[in-house]
Amino acid sequence: MSVIKKEKGIVIALDVKDVHSALALAREFSTLQGNFAIKVGRPLEMQAGYKIIPAIKEASQLPVIYDGKIADIPYISSSIARIAYEAGADAVIVHGFVGKDVIKSILDLNMGDVIVVISMSHQGSAQYIDLVAKNMADMVNALEVNGVVLPATKPKLTSSLASILKEEVYILSPGIKAQGADVGDAIKAGADYEIIGRAIYNSLNPKQKAEEFYKKVREV
Ligand code: C5P
Repeated sequence: MSVIKKEKGIVIALDVKDVHSALALAREFSTLQGNFAIKVGRPLEMQAGYKIIPAIKEASQLPVIYDGKIADIPYISSSIARIAYEAGADAVIVHGFVGKDVIKSILDLNMGDVIVVISMSHQGSAQYIDLVAKNMADMVNALEVNGVVLPATKPKLTSSLASILKEEVYILSPGIKAQGADVGDAIKAGADYEIIGRAIYNSLNPKQKAEEFYKKVREV
């Protein structure tokens, strides 16, 4: 069973430039009403180390996804994932292009959700990754993966892959606002969560913005 629910919601990408503002925002998000999770990525990790994971989790009282975009050999990938889970991450994000053995090494830890990137929201993803996105979706279906990342900026690709994924696999979709897609676009294409960073944390009232976006996502 997945920790992250397969239900429409928002994943807030907390890629802010300093730890103090990250913690202040996380505290603000603790009173959010709705289905939210926080994504902690490399920008915060590079500043504060893995201890930022429990700090954000405690401050926000929300599920935390560690987005290390893990892409190494199984031994190293599972070591990174283990540190994140032990620190309190509910889920970790791993690249799909590294192959089945890497993903299996993280699944075998059995410590939380495993989310696999099968396409990305930037243009360069079309150069290599998107060419094998369908193969990655098939690989995900053959494993007990909990979720996948598919881009809001490529609704056709997202909806065609969403239609072949196993029912219980949830889809997180970045690329909203700052990268061009609109709130709700990914949900229309079959995603469960929209990952939104800058459009929330750079706004004048991030908590209010997050709730406004959540309302839109629920209305799709
Ligand atoms: O600020 P913005 O809303 O563009 O942030 C998007 C977030 O989603 C970033 O944290 C980025 O790392 C992440 N992401 C992405 N494309 C993927 C996977 C994750 O943009 N395929």
